[in-house]
Amino acid sequence: MNKKTLKDIDVKGKKVLVRVDFNVPIKDGEVGDDTRIRAALPTLNYLLDEGAALILTSHLGRPKGEAKPEFSLAPVAKYLGGLVDCPVKFAGDCLGDVAKDAAAALNVGEILLLENTRYHAGEKKNDPAMAKELASFADVFVNDAFGTAHRAHASNVGVTEHIPSAAGFLLEKELKYLGESIANAEHPFVAILGGAKVSDKIGVINNLLDKTDKVLIGGGMANTFFKAQGYEMADSLVEADSIDTARELLKKAGDTLQLPVDMVIADDFAEQAQSTVVPVGNVPAGWRILDVGPATVAAFADILKSAKTVVWNGPMGVFEFPEFAKGTFGVAEAVAAADAVSIIGGGDSVAAINDAGLDEKVSHISTGGGASLEMLEGKVLPGLAALQDK
Ligand code: 3PG
Repeated sequence: MNKKTLKDIDVKGKKVLVRVDFNVPIKDGEVGDDTRIRAALPTLNYLLDEGAALILTSHLGRPKGEAKPEFSLAPVAKYLGGLVDCPVKFAGDCLGDVAKDAAAALNVGEILLLENTRYHAGEKKNDPAMAKELASFADVFVNDAFGTAHRAHASNVGVTEHIPSAAGFLLEKELKYLGESIANAEHPFVAILGGAKVSDKIGVINNLLDKTDKVLIGGGMANTFFKAQGYEMADSLVEADSIDTARELLKKAGDTLQLPVDMVIADDFAEQAQSTVVPVGNVPAGWRILDVGPATVAAFADILKSAKTVVWNGPMGVFEFPEFAKGTFGVAEAVAAADAVSIIGGGDSVAAINDAGLDEKVSHISTGGGASLEMLEGKVLPGLAALQDK
């Protein structure tokens, strides 16, 4: 990576502004999945050990420029206090005297978390005045918010115009896998793409078709490809607007693109629906595809056996219903069993790996949703591009 990293900057005795992605689920004022908070710990602990005072910024949800209490980072500050070995303070605003005074009073070895940056409209507009004010609290900026790196906002891009900047360990690790491991992939290189919509993944498919040996397609998006092949999909999810694109992709991809060979169909979109496994073909009226079938899992597993690089993004079926999560879990096991560099992105595929207890068996689980997809599309992420070169 040609960007400065933590090892390239001197932070001893300095105030460091650290952009993290603490956009985590909050329910009844409590942190749910804490993966993103834990993922920032190597950077935070390193900076504390090096003798810095840390001012953290993050967004949470989409409060649309207003201070809405349900989007407060206060529960995250409390939670973080239980994970680190130092005081964690919280300022009820990320701008103004509240933030300025809290930052000024911060000592080396302490953490201050500022309130949600998206309480101010300037954040998403990358407002120069907001960026300048945030930067004024610190001597140096570290970006460790990979999940937000596809956004060009004041707290991750604008601030870099005012103080020296570097990438944190999480950002560096994500780029190593989603950037370098893919650009220099060892072959066979297999991508597995799922999820509901093919329209969300067109850029990814196009980019990966040129790099991979196989692209395995599952989930609702496979239906649009089946429709493009002329099959009747009955009540299955099909994106009418994307049928032509799917047809073009099929033509362009040839043998590289592999669709499911069987499917689980159901008589209702419901957990308790009646279901059966059928080979690929016309779906009977009143039925819909909700998962890939066991022959597909076996076929995908067979391809994955010889893979040396695997990228997986998106579930194979309606993962929230256990009856229709078997395809996704089957693929999770096959990915974990592969003797390959394996990179997992996207909420449901990550959840499947975690729920199956396979997280230790894969090389990298991305903390990014949109950011990891944009990496797979081959795009340059503004949050990374803005950082100082080595
Ligand atoms: C995410 O959860 O993908 C990131 O935190 C970015 O959030 P956003 O899509 O609201 O910008």
